[in-house]
Amino acid sequence: MKFFLDSANFKEIEEAHSWGVVSGVTTNPSLVSKEKGPFDEIVKKICNLMPDCPVSVEVLSTVSGGMVEEAHRLAALADNVVIKIPMGAEGLKAVHRLSTEGKKVPCNVTLVFSANQALLASRAGAAYVSPFIGRIDDIGWDGTDLVKNIMNIFTCHELDTKVIAASIRHPLHVEQVAAAGAHIATVPFSVLGQMSRHPLTDLGIERFLADWGKTRQEERI
Ligand code: G3P
Repeated sequence: MKFFLDSANFKEIEEAHSWGVVSGVTTNPSLVSKEKGPFDEIVKKICNLMPDCPVSVEVLSTVSGGMVEEAHRLAALADNVVIKIPMGAEGLKAVHRLSTEGKKVPCNVTLVFSANQALLASRAGAAYVSPFIGRIDDIGWDGTDLVKNIMNIFTCHELDTKVIAASIRHPLHVEQVAAAGAHIATVPFSVLGQMSRHPLTDLGIERFLADWGKTRQEERI
C-alpha cells in the first residue's frame, strides 16, 4: 500500500516528502481553506514540492459542465494535477468526459460511501476512487468493511481504478485498510507522525543512551 499525504500545508508536505514515504498528495476545499494565498498558487507550489507525484485538487462546481471547465483549468497549472470530482450523477458525467474527450484528465472520485458508488466511478473512467473511512465510522458503520468490499469487487471484475482509503483518523485505520488491500491510504500529517512513534522505541533510545553514558561518555562524538 502506498501513502499519500492528506494536506495542503507546505511545511507538512515538505517534511513528509523528506521522510521518503509519501507518493502523492490529496487536498480538498476544507484543507485548502486553512492555507493562505491564491488557490492556483497553492496548487502550483504543492505540485512543485512533489514533482512526479499525483496531487489531487478538488473542483467546486456542482454541475458537470462547470466541473469539466474547472478541471481543464486546474490541470493546466501543472503536469501532476489529478482532479477530485464529488460522486453523483453530475460527477460521473464529468469523469466520463474528462477521461474520453480531448486532452484526458485523471480523476479521483471523492466522497464515496458505498461499493456501488465506487463501481460506477470506476466504470465512468475514474483513475482513483476515495472511500471516506472515518466519516463512515462516524455514523456507526464500518469504513474498513467498505474498503474490503470495494477491493473484492474491483479484483473480481479486473477494474484498474486505484482505491484511496481517505478520511483516515488514526494509525489503526491505516493498518486496517492495508490489511483490506487498499492500493493507497491518504493520511493526515498528524497520523503519519503517530505511525512513526512508539513509547517503547523512545524508552529504548533513552536506556541505550543512559547505559552508554555510564561508562563511555567520553567516547561520544
Ligand atoms: O481525503 C478526504 C479527507 O480529507 C476527509 O477527511 O477527516 O475530513 O473526514 P475527514
